[in-house]
Amino acid sequence: MRGLLALRKALLRAADAVVPAQLAVFDRVTAMMGSHVVTELARVGVADLLDERSMTAAELAARTETDPVAMLRAMRGAVSMGVFERDAMGRYANNRLSSTLRSTETHDLRSVARYFGSRSNVMAWCDFPETLRTGKNAFERVHGKSIWEWFDEHPVERETFADSMMAMTLVDAPGIAATYPFADVRKLCDVGGGRGTLLSEILVRHPHLRAVLFDNPGVLDAARELLGTRGVADRVELVAGSFFDVGSVPRGADTYVLKNVLHDWDDERCIAILRNCRAAMDRGGRLLVIEALVEEGCEDYGALADLHMMIVCCDGRERGRAEYEKLLVASGFRFERVMEAPTPVAILEAIAV
Ligand SMILES: C[S@@+](CC[C@H](N)C(=O)[O-])C[C@H]1O[C@@H](n2cnc3c(N)ncnc32)[C@H](O)[C@@H]1O
Repeated sequence: MRGLLALRKALLRAADAVVPAQLAVFDRVTAMMGSHVVTELARVGVADLLDERSMTAAELAARTETDPVAMLRAMRGAVSMGVFERDAMGRYANNRLSSTLRSTETHDLRSVARYFGSRSNVMAWCDFPETLRTGKNAFERVHGKSIWEWFDEHPVERETFADSMMAMTLVDAPGIAATYPFADVRKLCDVGGGRGTLLSEILVRHPHLRAVLFDNPGVLDAARELLGTRGVADRVELVAGSFFDVGSVPRGADTYVLKNVLHDWDDERCIAILRNCRAAMDRGGRLLVIEALVEEGCEDYGALADLHMMIVCCDGRERGRAEYEKLLVASGFRFERVMEAPTPVAILEAIAV
């Protein structure tokens, strides 16, 4: 995966090099239009409809209760970006790219599109100028509450976010489960583990393991379903709570996991989360922080993900290895080692001291 991403980057750079620089920058400046078109077509379910058979824009409009001319123009825009294809009769069909937007896909990009295209997310991004000026997150400024409080009040959006998180974690989970020696673990606690996407992958591969899934109460209902589908529900205890409440992180596991949790928060709140984990652990217990490592000179997607954390999450940030090490040491851990998974994500192992 890492090699393919490097090759793609080189090819994209080469494609830029053969056109005037203005054209390449024009693409970046207008990318917002393409994002809106693809995310909205995904939201109204065009890729699912085209799985039944190819359709004209008028048919798609009738099935999605949209305007036929606007649908024709939107489909033309999407095809111009390589998403969907059109035959000589003017009928649209899925192609390799648009197929990822079907809700039946395992690595379902439709939910990712629905989350990134959601009004609350887009409105936060629209306030980027103020974030650039102040360094403070836009979501709270625009909506008057943190993204997590927002989700508590908007359960449909919380589900969309959890769907998209699950789609992204499904990509990383097999590699993480194969990279770390979970055979040595007896009981695993996934803190802020969402629906248990990673946990279920690890448990399927390691039948001896028992686990605890800890997250906000609203998230755990959907977790039951996923863990049941994967046949591991009887080995997982679900515990609802906040990782900011002292004493709330469940005790009794020998290994704790924080995957894509710390990047949501500023340093101060990361230390609060880590200290609450440490308080639940025995000396010598293991903590796995699983995150993309984004160093200062990062030139890949991590650099943009970092902006999303700054704008939408609670003054969150992507961090490099030394930054995580500092947070861990400040919270009662010894940094032990870092293991790279096959996808661009690292497992940072720390020991409770
Ligand atoms: C970015 S998601 C990561 C989910 C999961 N670890 C994964 O990688 O798929 C962050 C998770 O933190 C949870 N979370 C946010 N605030 C929390 C809190 N105060 N206590 C417990 N969990 C929280 C969210 O519900 C969400 O599931």
